[in-house]
Amino acid sequence: MIRKANLSDIDTILTVIADAKELFRKNNSLQWQDTDGYPHRRTVHADILKEWLYLNFRSNRLAGIITLAQEPDESYRVIHEGNWLNNRKYYTIHRLAVKKEFYRQGVAQELVDYAFEITRRSGVFDIRCDTAAENIAMNRLLEKCGFVRCGIIYLVRGSCLEPKRIAYHKSFDNKLIKSNNIKKMV
Ligand SMILES: CC(C)(COP(=O)(O)OP(=O)(O)OC[C@H]1O[C@@H](n2cnc3c(N)ncnc32)[C@H](O)[C@@H]1OP(=O)(O)O)[C@@H](O)C(=O)NCCC(=O)NCCS
Repeated sequence: MIRKANLSDIDTILTVIADAKELFRKNNSLQWQDTDGYPHRRTVHADILKEWLYLNFRSNRLAGIITLAQEPDESYRVIHEGNWLNNRKYYTIHRLAVKKEFYRQGVAQELVDYAFEITRRSGVFDIRCDTAAENIAMNRLLEKCGFVRCGIIYLVRGSCLEPKRIAYHKSFDNKLIKSNNIKKMV
């Protein structure tokens, strides 16, 4: 079951983020090892207030989180070694993470599919995302979900210790959706 997060979920959400930070540390990755503790309580709080954060539950336990940001991302203004697929309006997937006991059970894939559905229902047909080169799980997941590797971006977040990221873009054919699937989507 997937639903929007509310403020009373924050403590549980932070346990999912803690698992991700631990995984990155173990893998010697600097992702989410920011000097200010990003992603932290304030990040989650802001995502919830904007109604961008969604939770995936398995047997009533929080199994995964995703933020679907609905504003252009500063870090995506410049792309190196390639190009975005287009310059249309896009949403961005951020802060996707799964509780460690639920790894590899399709929790993230469900969240990404859900994000696709929300995006298209809003009349937006493009989603962007980024991840570190060493994050094999996330790179594979994005490719499996049909994202295209477009180039390199550098996160503008000042607290980030290693800002280089692989830039991904998934573009939907809006004409196809309008003609065939719109009744299903709305
Ligand atoms: C990346 C992450 C969200 C994947 O979550 P998950 O629920 O385990 O992923 P799913 O079970 O939905 O897997 C879907 C696909 O992703 C890929 N994948 C997931 N975990 C993988 C792993 N450990 N190694 C290789 N591929 C992996 C596979 O292609 C998988 O499909 P398959 O199982 O049919 O092979 C999870 O590993 C996680 O929380 N990592 C820490 C946080 C993180 O990296 N967030 C992204 C920051 S940019």
